[in-house]
Parts: sequence; structure tokens; C-alpha cells
Amino acid sequence: MPIPHYLHTKSIHPSSKMKMIHVLFLFALVSFTSHASVNDFCVADLKGPDSPSGYQCKPPNTVTVDDFVFSGFVAGNTTNTFNAALTSAFVTDFPGVNGLGVSVARLDIAKGGSIPMHTHPAATELLIMVEGQITAGFMTPTALYTKTLKPGDIMVFPQGQLHFQVNSGNGKATAFLAFSSANPGAQLLDLLLFGNTLPSDLVAQTTFLDVAQVKKVKARFGGRG
Ligand SMILES: *[C@@H]1O[C@H](CO)[C@@H](O)[C@H](O)[C@H]1NC(C)=O
Repeated sequence: MPIPHYLHTKSIHPSSKMKMIHVLFLFALVSFTSHASVNDFCVADLKGPDSPSGYQCKPPNTVTVDDFVFSGFVAGNTTNTFNAALTSAFVTDFPGVNGLGVSVARLDIAKGGSIPMHTHPAATELLIMVEGQITAGFMTPTALYTKTLKPGDIMVFPQGQLHFQVNSGNGKATAFLAFSSANPGAQLLDLLLFGNTLPSDLVAQTTFLDVAQVKKVKARFGGRG
């Protein structure tokens, strides 16, 4: 399931040189372990279908430098259910990363906001703290790994693990995210459980919540029934 559009913002404010240097650094960092050789690229033809191995390649004579440049890596609008914004440079925003097994995003979380429990089934995620304070973690069937992160901290969320990020500080928080996939996608637990039309008593039976609670959360995440 793609990240919902209200978390998926685009801005066109000018970004500072410093931010671009960060981006280049991230790109270099995650490219280091890539198997692709320097001359082996396939810029996405976004008009064609997506597949597990990526998009088909644009004809080489139509590739331009702008396929390899993403602009607008700036804070998104955090006025939404989660009080958070993800500005993504995934293949659908940045065709040059097609097939390279890398992409990046910028996470801005307003005070009190959060990115609820979710997984990226096909991507490992690195979170690089830039500003503020985020409490993040992931859990397995037998263990919980959670930490309060400050600028200078990096946390890795191994591929497929259920994880979350909460702004636990007194102001806004910003982190850069690097992914081991050009198209990490996201499955948000709340949206899957409550953004549907399954009858609420059935959802209650499968989640061990009360029907009234299920109805309340369904209303928040666009579900019915
Ligand atoms: C941010 O989003 C909210 C809710 O959609 C909207 O009312 C507001 O105008 C937006 N702010 C900016 C700066 O775009």
C-alpha cells in the first residue's frame, strides 16, 4: 500500500546547499553496498507499469540530467491526522533511482505527532536525526528495540520489521530517511486494520478491541461498517 497522500507532500521551497550535501552523503552511503555498476542504470519510464524489479527503462536518448536530480527536499505540511509529513524521493518522484535499490525521504513531525506502526516489506530503512527528538523503535515476536534519538543519532529498521516514530521532544523534529529500495512502499497498520469496510464487530473480534473503539478509529482512518 502506498503512503497515504496526506503524508506524502511536495513542496517547492528553495532548499539550502547544506541539505543537498546531506542528501548526497546519504545517497553515497546507501550506494556503497549496491550491486549496480556505475554505468548500469535504467531511468524509469513512469508511464509504463511498475514491477517487482522496477519500471521499464526510458529510451536513453530521452534521459536528461533532471532524471537524476530531485528538488524540493524540504519540510512538508504537517497539518494532518498524524501531525507529520513525509517528503519522498522515491522512484515515482525521482526516476533516476529506478533499479538502483536506493531512495530517500525527509520526515518532519510536529510537536506531539507520530508516524504510526508500519512496515516496508521490501526495504531496510535508515533514520538519520537532524533536528529535535524522536522516540523510535521496532518489535519482533520476542523483542522490542526502542530508543529516544537526538541529532547525530542514526537508527536502522531492518527490512520488514514493524516500526514507529514519535516526536517526543518539545518542538518540531526532522529526520532524513534512506531506503534500500527505489520504491519502499509502506503498510500502515492503522490504515489496514481500520481504513476498510469490514463490519466493526468482525474487526473487534480480530483485534480484541471494543466495537465502540473500532468505530471511533474507523472514523479517523476513513473506514466504514
Ligand atoms: C497545510 O495543510 C492544511 C490542511 O490541509 C491547510 O489548511 C493549510 O493551508 C496547509 N498549509 C500550507 C502552508 O500549505
